[in-house]
Amino acid sequence: MIIGIVNGPNLNLTGIREPSIYGSIGFDEYLGTLRHLYPGVEIEYHQSNVEGELINYIHDLGLRATGILINAGAYTHTSIAVADAIAAFPSKAIEIHLSNLGRREDFRHHSYLTKVCIGTIMGLGLEGYRLGIEYFLSITQSHIA
Ligand code: DQA
Repeated sequence: MIIGIVNGPNLNLTGIREPSIYGSIGFDEYLGTLRHLYPGVEIEYHQSNVEGELINYIHDLGLRATGILINAGAYTHTSIAVADAIAAFPSKAIEIHLSNLGRREDFRHHSYLTKVCIGTIMGLGLEGYRLGIEYFLSITQSHIA
């Protein structure tokens, strides 16, 4: 099973950037933990600060992966194009945010992605990605059973 993680702008600085909001563990380190926890899952990781590259990753993963965990960073609040890319693959994407957007500035309260994703996991830090993997594992197993 392939699960794609797509992280948007500034998420490459996780661990360094505003640690009181986004935590102090870097994404590469966390990715190692995830791969260790789920050796049977092929976890593909893409990060870009460029909107069009995120769209290309979504297209590619949409055609191949069981699920996509998308944290579009600030593009969450601005990008109809990223939302349209996700909409091409209904039931494949979960929206992830490290922080709880409902507790933050008003401009972070609207997400273009929410309507096109299966669900949203936010405010749980990096743990949100692991929970997203658990979701795809659970639906895959229940489809087999
Ligand atoms: C974020 C929340 C966004 O508002 C912000 O622009 C980010 C990170 C999060 O993971 O909490 O870059 O998506």
